[in-house]
Amino acid sequence: MYAMNKKRAVVAVTGASGVTIGIRVSGMLARADVDVYCIVSDAAARIIPAEIRGAADARAAFDAVLGEFPANIRIFDERNFDAPPASGSFKFEAMAIAPCSMKTLGKLACGIADNLIVRAAEVALKERRRLVVCPRETPLALTHIRNMETLCMAGAVILPPAISFYGEPKTAGDAADTIAARIVQSMGFEQDTVKEWGL
Ligand SMILES: Cc1cc2nc3c(=O)[nH]c(=O)nc-3n(C[C@H](O)[C@H](O)[C@H](O)COP(=O)(O)O)c2cc1C
Repeated sequence: MYAMNKKRAVVAVTGASGVTIGIRVSGMLARADVDVYCIVSDAAARIIPAEIRGAADARAAFDAVLGEFPANIRIFDERNFDAPPASGSFKFEAMAIAPCSMKTLGKLACGIADNLIVRAAEVALKERRRLVVCPRETPLALTHIRNMETLCMAGAVILPPAISFYGEPKTAGDAADTIAARIVQSMGFEQDTVKEWGL
């Protein structure tokens, strides 16, 4: 049944290091009662077993990172090009690409919408919805920097996966949460996993 007032967000996980970040973003949004449309690229699906112990596929990775699979998260693969986020007529509040590979960054900067991830991000840009891009590469080539500039000028928020240390994260997961929380905030949603400074 179509829920008129339900908030929706799109989260794309691409084949860069740090797939846990996108999963954590999805978990924080789900806890904030947002319906999450999560798109996993083919490359991300191949990187998941290398980064998330014991997870053979995306669904297992969500279970491993979040402890349980929230009912308001749906997972799509990048070839599912006719899924709801492919059309501007499907309303979502915001999208994050976390982590964003340099390949996806480049395709989006050039308008090559050949999969559901780039198409949904293009929809976010053209419909003037929030798009948060979390580019993961180091060091950066000038081509990467120029693609980020292009997307920034088109309205995207460029949010590199830079850990905050002032909350004294104890584990790699805690450190990833500091990034995920900033992404959720930049998407315009509330999160209660990481404390705001001064509170
Ligand atoms: C273990 C591993 C780690 C990778 N890490 C990165 C990365 O941090 N950033 C990046 O841009 N590409 C990285 N790549 C390369 C991308 O996975 C590759 O360019 C892929 O085609 C990206 O596809 P996608 O953007 O559709 O997910 C990595 C590849 C492997 C196998």
